[in-house]
Amino acid sequence: MQTTFAESKPGAEWWRSAVIYQIYPRSFADGNGDGIGDIPGITSRLDSLAELGIDAIWCSPLTKSPQKDAGYDVSDYRDIEPLFGTLQDFDELVAKAGERGIRIIMDLVPNHSSEEHVWFKEALAAKPGSAARNRYMFRDGKGENGELAPNNWESVFGGPAWTRITEADGTLGQWYLHIFDKSQPDFNWENPEVMEEFDSVLRFWLDRGAAGFRIDVAHGLVKEDGLPDVVLNDSTMGGQQGPDDKPKDRVSPHPFWGREGVHEINRRWRKVLDEYEGRAMCAEAWVMPLSRMATWVRPDEYHQTFNFAFLDTPWDKQKLQAVIDESIEEFSNVGAPPTWVLSNHDVIRHATRLSYDQVPKQGDGIGPDYEQPDEAKGLRRGRAASALMLGLPGGAYVYQGEELGLPEHTTLDGSVRQDPTYFRTNGERVGRDGCRVPIPWTASEPAFGFSKTGESWLPQPESFKNYARAAQEGVVGSTLELYKSLLQVRKQYALGNGSLQWQNDLVPAGAFAYQNGQVLVVVNFTNEPFALPAGELLVTTQLGLAAEGHLEADQVAWIRA
Ligand code: NOJ
Ligand code: CA
Repeated sequence: MQTTFAESKPGAEWWRSAVIYQIYPRSFADGNGDGIGDIPGITSRLDSLAELGIDAIWCSPLTKSPQKDAGYDVSDYRDIEPLFGTLQDFDELVAKAGERGIRIIMDLVPNHSSEEHVWFKEALAAKPGSAARNRYMFRDGKGENGELAPNNWESVFGGPAWTRITEADGTLGQWYLHIFDKSQPDFNWENPEVMEEFDSVLRFWLDRGAAGFRIDVAHGLVKEDGLPDVVLNDSTMGGQQGPDDKPKDRVSPHPFWGREGVHEINRRWRKVLDEYEGRAMCAEAWVMPLSRMATWVRPDEYHQTFNFAFLDTPWDKQKLQAVIDESIEEFSNVGAPPTWVLSNHDVIRHATRLSYDQVPKQGDGIGPDYEQPDEAKGLRRGRAASALMLGLPGGAYVYQGEELGLPEHTTLDGSVRQDPTYFRTNGERVGRDGCRVPIPWTASEPAFGFSKTGESWLPQPESFKNYARAAQEGVVGSTLELYKSLLQVRKQYALGNGSLQWQNDLVPAGAFAYQNGQVLVVVNFTNEPFALPAGELLVTTQLGLAAEGHLEADQVAWIRA
């Protein structure tokens, strides 16, 4: 493969400092006008991502899937979903991205397959106790006639985590485990055949030029022997909570989140990646506290893990300072770079989330009945949080649309919702569709330029026209231009490979300032403007701010000090 990638040097490997852009394929760009984003759409927009200044793209699952959970239900791990294109389209994406120095990271979903995976079909047709059943988590039910689920586990999307099947002979039979939707049966990760299959899937995509993987539910693969009831819960993935709905003892063993046995799988995969040059994998592991999360990125395990502790932190000086310190300390203790992330396809977009003092639990989303956000405040804080984040040392993740300041769609009607959470909770939790709405490219075109026909699998709110990319291009002070400047300065001063020193004595109490190399990042969390510390103003969120000016509430300045 021809690429323009810089050599990876030990200790300075690309992933330690990379800015990785998450594409949610259904909603990025629709090449054929059917209302669903696709790979040719992504390829056609690569120049805009190169201009943004990112290093790699992580695509949410592109693999074959009936799309019951938007691709996180895979029916063939070695093929591309026809809605998104073909393997050739994928190869072309890797090649064209490579020409621009951009790597492509796949999303791998090893905890569960789709119910339409050939293995699950075989399991349904086979007998209890058979090898085919043993690739998944089938159990007999409790009760006189097996009519009760094997244990009390709940699905992350609501309702029981078990579904009873009808056996091939027509009788009611065993139950299978699905930590997510019933269309997503959990694999049995005690079975060597499952392990070997995934080694081979990893190699399949690495051979095709993938730069690595974002691994879905990386903390959920191993279940406790005997599958005991959940007694004491942690808060991971919005799953089962304690009786008072508060996260419980977060380090206590949970029967399926963050089991010790997962580390063995991490190491197995790391060996596979190490057979190739310059590849990396990032864990989606909702395990707290950070000291525990850091065990996922020990030198022989993952390269990165998403820093959900940072994402979960409100717009609060003390709390942000504390989580930044803790992240840097815990990750560096194991020799891994910290990562930073504010938005993704599972959480309320940060340009909306940060306008609230109290936000719904992760995954619950915001619907029309919820208190509606203060859009201006959200945008102001969203931009400030991004400028705060992108100055930090380590890797950073940017979710498509956040570079436009895009808000959550908070008034989607139930009739158009698609997240299984909405259906499994009878609409009580509206779910994640609000952060997955197709993004706007041009204000005046159908579907704001997302698809030429105007089709869009989720409706876009009218307000999206104000955020269209073309309308921000070259406009001083626009969020798009802000991101471009942040990424450019970040690269120029090698901030991703830098280190952080607090400089709070340079700013009033209620603000904070940190130095990374030659750059001083100043953040005002108060309502009182204050005079900027001396130095050359490199980039700022505040329109019209000059070097000797005053930094206003919820604004950030990067100064060469
Ligand atoms: C985490 C993914 O990010 C989410 O979108 C998905 O629904 C679950 N894992 C299940 O695969
Ligand atoms: Ca399409």
